[in-house]
Amino acid sequence: MSQIVEAPVSPRPSTAERVFSGIQPSGASHLGNYLGAQANYVALQDEYDTIYAIVDWHALTSVHDGAELRQLTHDMVLDLLAVGLDPARCALIRQSDFPEHAELAWIFNTVTPVSWVERTPTYKEKRQQGLENSVGLLDYPILQAADIVIYKATRVPVGRDQAAHLELSREVVRAFNRRYGDVFPEPQPVFTDAPTVLGIDGSAKMSKSAGNTIPIFADPDEIRRLVMSMVTDPLRIKRTDPGRPEVCNVCQLHRFFGGDYLQIQDGERTARTGCVDTKGLLAERIIEFFRPMRARRAELAADPAVVEDTLAAGAARVRPIVEATMSEVRAAVGVGRVGRPR
Ligand code: TYM
Repeated sequence: MSQIVEAPVSPRPSTAERVFSGIQPSGASHLGNYLGAQANYVALQDEYDTIYAIVDWHALTSVHDGAELRQLTHDMVLDLLAVGLDPARCALIRQSDFPEHAELAWIFNTVTPVSWVERTPTYKEKRQQGLENSVGLLDYPILQAADIVIYKATRVPVGRDQAAHLELSREVVRAFNRRYGDVFPEPQPVFTDAPTVLGIDGSAKMSKSAGNTIPIFADPDEIRRLVMSMVTDPLRIKRTDPGRPEVCNVCQLHRFFGGDYLQIQDGERTARTGCVDTKGLLAERIIEFFRPMRARRAELAADPAVVEDTLAAGAARVRPIVEATMSEVRAAVGVGRVGRPR
């Protein structure tokens, strides 16, 4: 079985629960972001109290140019609005507007053994990818834990690659609660039915750092070019060779872009269709699927106020939650002025 169909959809959170997720403004939104996480951000906002953050502090571990990071943050707000986040139904915030996330991360640092962060698989992966081995890179999942639980969120829509970070968040919560009393609930991931989308190489997870992405808002011609370059079943050499749709990333992606994917997979299996046909069809379907979102994004981008207005509305909505949690935390750990919030 290919990885992209490995996990069942998670049970839906109960309506009393709060949902939080974060996305790094480290590059253009791609199919992995959309199918693995953003689709769930949109679906969950209808029924739950949902908060989504552009985590610009996390992106400092890989984006080292200030003007570029600001632009990428702006662009990510547009992406999220275009895919369907509605500021009337969710709070869209910028992490760096809330220094309390860093304050809580510091407090969490003091309850977390170094070995817990050192063994995080993403830390090893990111170093292998050549990211600078900064204290920030090591501490990255602790800031992520703070992002989530400062809102006492219990459900976190993410892709499979974030499962280890969620596991660590739960451990940090338990360590804090053991030391200071029951302040935080334990967050759980919520997966889509595409928890790991593979890249155009057909083998590695689609990710900006691997350079194997299909950006969802790229020009149609660029999407065509990228999809046509996708690696299919490596054992299908000749047009007449039967394919194995279960290992072919192109066949797997068809699952999300049309109800006839079983026929498409059958065509590959029986060599009735060739890889080029299957890729061409996928490219057109991806372009069609994102066409209304691309149009919406262009409209939004024409309004110079929309991004900061959205972030200001989100910030106003969540500020009382942040203040209430941090008053509770400061009282529990014994820091800050006694008696009234800062
Ligand atoms: P980031 O910015 O790398 O990715 C954003 C979301 O997209 C998902 N994703 C994928 N899902 C399936 N297949 C893929 N190929 C794929 N690539 C990316 C990610 O799982 C993620 O859900 N550490 C987080 C950001 C973060 C965060 C948080 C998330 C910071 N604080 C608090 C949740 C809660 C990250 O690197 O996401």
